[in-house]
Amino acid sequence: MTVSVYPGHGARRSLVTGGAGFVGSHLVEHLLGLGDEVVVLDDLSTGSARNLAGVADHPRVTMVHGSILNPLTVGEAMQSCDRVFHLAAAVGVKLIVEQPLRGLRINIHGTENVLTAAIERQASVLLVSTSEVYGKNTADRLREDADRVLGDPLLSRWTYAGAKGIDEAFAKAYCDQEGLDVSIVRLFNTVGPRQTGRYGMVLPNLVGQALRGQPLTVFGDGLQTRCFSAVEDVVPAMVRIERDPRARGQAYNLGGAREISILDLAHEIIRTLDSRSVVELIPYDQAYAPGFEDMRRRVPDNTKAHDLVGYEPRTSLTSTIMRVAADLLSRERLGSDAMPLAGADSFRGAL
Ligand SMILES: NC(=O)c1ccc[n+]([C@@H]2O[C@H](COP(=O)([O-])OP(=O)(O)OC[C@H]3O[C@@H](n4cnc5c(N)ncnc54)[C@H](O)[C@@H]3O)[C@@H](O)[C@H]2O)c1
Repeated sequence: MTVSVYPGHGARRSLVTGGAGFVGSHLVEHLLGLGDEVVVLDDLSTGSARNLAGVADHPRVTMVHGSILNPLTVGEAMQSCDRVFHLAAAVGVKLIVEQPLRGLRINIHGTENVLTAAIERQASVLLVSTSEVYGKNTADRLREDADRVLGDPLLSRWTYAGAKGIDEAFAKAYCDQEGLDVSIVRLFNTVGPRQTGRYGMVLPNLVGQALRGQPLTVFGDGLQTRCFSAVEDVVPAMVRIERDPRARGQAYNLGGAREISILDLAHEIIRTLDSRSVVELIPYDQAYAPGFEDMRRRVPDNTKAHDLVGYEPRTSLTSTIMRVAADLLSRERLGSDAMPLAGADSFRGAL
């Protein structure tokens, strides 16, 4: 197989676990653009082959349908790969609250399978973690060494943060004790085309509701804030961090620049898409289960990633909303979810 090499990037053979998912599929396309050979390992539980439709026939991509819970599958998929981007995970608050055991198994045992296979094959690893590890810490700007403020471990809501924290600790211990070349990124509410709202992701959910002319359902009082980052800003930074030897054993925040409340986000979506929808506040107890806890605020300090690889979130939220809406329409995801796009006509006209 011939591998073309782009200037400044030694072409590699990369394994992307979770490569058929939202972030993973954008990463696969980016790596192919850099000249890499790419192996995708995904069980298609929340991801979809459709996400990779644009590269399915690419001569440098190999798809492996299987689970990171199976060490043999992981070992085979990693064969002759020299680096691993580990994204496969049980993701999404709704999924985690409803199926905590599944989340714990995939996010802890699955990750350890990936890390041990990487040591055996002397492959480097980028572990994709999450801002959820900071829990309820509402600091003005969360640095990577900020304290974790987590709720009761018996609340399933915290199992995702707990498992991802253990993943990071595993990665660091393998780095320090076994010499694994691993670095970590913590994503903060990454958004963009192909993200699905099915598992509780707020932005595609609200955009879908606005397109259908349904009320935009905002949980709690809506004053909880987040900093959304665009997938096209985050993915190149992930690759640059993986390549940088100074990142070994380190964690890097990759988040957005603008803090916005979910209520304001809903109104911005309605304005941007010229939707006739209204906003409806839903108590957390109704949205999830009694006792559900959310973070009031989550604001990243991106300085460390900026200083290492020049990371800067540039894409505006408005342009992301437009692109997510266009994606939902073109892929007819909403249609397949059995909801007609009644409110989409005016937006369609603007495309
Ligand atoms: N999108 C975000 O805002 C965000 C924020 C923080 C962290 N992350 C992390 O980024 C990574 C990718 O998330 P995403 O948003 O693209 O979600 P996603 O659900 O689209 O991607 C996860 C992928 O992993 C696959 N997968 C799940 N279990 C698997 C298993 N046992 N074996 C093999 N594949 C499996 C799914 O099919 C899916 O394709 C995850 O590790 C997630 O924790 C994402």
